[in-house]
Amino acid sequence: MAPPPLLFLLSSFFFITIPLFPSLSQATVPAAAQFSYTNAGEFGPYIVEYDASYRILPIARTPFQLFFYNTTPTAFTLAVRMGMQRSEATRRFVWEANRGNPVGENATFSFGSDGNLVLAHQNGTVAWESGTKRNAVVRFEMLQTGNMVLYDAVGRVVWQSFDYVTDTLLVGQSLRVGSKLVSRVSEGANENGPYSLVLEPSRIALYYTTENTPKPYPYFTFFDLSRSQGTLEKITMNPTLGFDYEVKNGYNGTGGGFKNPRYNSTLSYLRLGIDGNLRIFTYLITFEESGYEVHYWENTVTFFSEDDWWAVETKCQLPGRCGEFGVCRNSQCVGCPSASGGLLGWSEDCRAPELGACGGKKGGFRYVEMAGIDHFTAKYSRGDGPVTKESCAGKCGKDCKCKGYFYHTVSRRCWIAYELGTMIRVDNSTHLAYIKAPL
Ligand SMILES: *[C@@H]1O[C@H](CO)[C@@H](O)[C@H](O)[C@H]1NC(C)=O
Ligand SMILES: *[C@@H]1O[C@H](CO)[C@@H](O)[C@H](O)[C@H]1NC(C)=O
Ligand SMILES: *[C@@H]1O[C@H](CO)[C@@H](O)[C@H](O)[C@H]1NC(C)=O
Ligand SMILES: *[C@@H]1O[C@H](CO)[C@@H](O)[C@H](O)[C@H]1NC(C)=O
Ligand SMILES: *[C@@H]1O[C@H](CO)[C@@H](O)[C@H](O)[C@H]1NC(C)=O
Repeated sequence: MAPPPLLFLLSSFFFITIPLFPSLSQATVPAAAQFSYTNAGEFGPYIVEYDASYRILPIARTPFQLFFYNTTPTAFTLAVRMGMQRSEATRRFVWEANRGNPVGENATFSFGSDGNLVLAHQNGTVAWESGTKRNAVVRFEMLQTGNMVLYDAVGRVVWQSFDYVTDTLLVGQSLRVGSKLVSRVSEGANENGPYSLVLEPSRIALYYTTENTPKPYPYFTFFDLSRSQGTLEKITMNPTLGFDYEVKNGYNGTGGGFKNPRYNSTLSYLRLGIDGNLRIFTYLITFEESGYEVHYWENTVTFFSEDDWWAVETKCQLPGRCGEFGVCRNSQCVGCPSASGGLLGWSEDCRAPELGACGGKKGGFRYVEMAGIDHFTAKYSRGDGPVTKESCAGKCGKDCKCKGYFYHTVSRRCWIAYELGTMIRVDNSTHLAYIKAPL
């Protein structure tokens, strides 16, 4: 049966108009603005961060430039570096596309007519992309801030590299609630390490997380807001090396301003380091009397330090400061706990007592008591309680993965430790540590 004429007209109308929508919104990138670069050829001759080998891409905005770099043969990261070639100062990597998912020789970084930025392996498999295929992108630009931006035909920002962080925040770059910086595991391996800086609705928190920790352990928090003060939405690092913060249902503001800069510190970045410390580095360009331009880096602020005026904590507050099982006092590693509860000389190799499959040999264990010792999380988390010490001991005792517990006899609070890490010596004998040891 032939369809009624009206229905036929309608369907042909849709047939004609539907394809018009995509072609209206899908602007294409002009040929002159497209690019494709291959990861091949000689390595650069200068020393860069992580002692990496690198290849320069012709995308730059002084002092920022795009690189392929590797610290392990054939495992390359696409990164933005900061620092100038002619300078003696080491160039540092301040943004990365593909941590944990490296590409090999002959990988390509391209920007095609579809407006998508693509990092692909030699065989064409995509390793990383901006995901902007259907967003009417017409133009790519690297800005003076180090931000890489994709624009549409009317100049709106469709995508920006500043929205994707690894372990670094540049001046002008924001961290939104729920997003985080994650430390690098080591100089040689570009994978996620155990430390993270997380923007939460009520605070900024630094966490230590390993495969043993059921929940991340906070080791420092700042900007704590009470509920009536609203919730944090976004923080942005500003040129005074503080943070501008945006608050929902409350007042926006500025915090930190760690340095009252005696110089222009717009070219700075905050880095969550391999060691869990937070540091700000500033790239300085000065002129000698002869007119010769000198470039150098200054470590402007260190959050965990004994000698930085702006420090918020000593190094003892860093979970890995004295290794897996060391005791720290005034930023110094002062010893490893002994089986009797005293301290042996500190060494990088001090290890918590070996326990058998569950608890100790044949399941048995005892607790080694130490007074005046805190876990690194005790200051920044409430633990459980008030509870009795016996209940705290029982909770750790029942849990094979528990390596010890920490107890404050005055507040009667209890912390179960799945990682001992650096333990902090305090002048308070009511702060107790109980480390599991085999019978
Ligand atoms: C990279 O591509 C070049 C040119 O096609 C080729 O000669 C070379 O073998 C390739 N390198 C690797 C490691 O596949
Ligand atoms: C392409 O190469 C990558 C990296 O070597 C590999 O992980 C991927 O499986 C390859 N894809 C195909 C389709 O062969
Ligand atoms: C905080 O900043 C945001 C973004 O600039 C703005 O929309 C909001 O109105 C500001 N809030 C107040 C209370 O000023
Ligand atoms: C500080 O340096 C930035 C980047 O080099 C520059 O854009 C800005 O104008 C400088 N500000 C002042 C006050 O000199
Ligand atoms: C020890 O710490 C508790 C809190 O846990 C506190 O109330 C007490 O005053 C401290 N004692 C000394 C001697 O500092």
